[in-house]
Amino acid sequence: MSRVIYPGSFDPVTYGHLDVIKRSAAMFDEVIVGILSNNAKNPLFSIGERKEMLEMAVKDFDNVKVITFEGLLIDYMKKHDISVIVRGLRAVTDFEYELQIAQSNRKVSRDTIDTVFLTTSIEYAYLSSSIVKEYARYGTDVTDFVPDFVAKKLKEKLL
Ligand code: PNS
Repeated sequence: MSRVIYPGSFDPVTYGHLDVIKRSAAMFDEVIVGILSNNAKNPLFSIGERKEMLEMAVKDFDNVKVITFEGLLIDYMKKHDISVIVRGLRAVTDFEYELQIAQSNRKVSRDTIDTVFLTTSIEYAYLSSSIVKEYARYGTDVTDFVPDFVAKKLKEKLL
């Protein structure tokens, strides 16, 4: 069985993330969406809120499960017998950072973990959770970028 983990902060989940999840779910038997809970980035949404939004967003996929993790991703993966990471690549600006993480994860795991990259669909290439939060903070409609229930949560949180 092919099982992969798609890790991230998901603060909050966007249509860009959902595009990667949908395409991974068609490619692999099981996709575990892993939300990092001890994030140095000081997230807007609590880990519980992020998990709830993601679970709602992926409820129609039978082979997608949402979990939270803290500490090193490779430690979670080893413990749960997962050896492949999925990440989305939006543009060349993502590449250097992603390459660094993928290569160091491979090194530290002693070559037991690989990373698979999906190039983000062109309509979501510019999208990030930070951009969505910035627009939402000023009352802009963000329903082109995130599901309606996420847009509502952003409004409640920021306005
Ligand atoms: O959505 P993000 O913030 O770009 O996701 C980054 C994430 C969560 C995939 C990455 O920071 C991560 O795996 N963090 C867990 C800690 C870890 O394993 N660090 C070593 C590689 S940076």
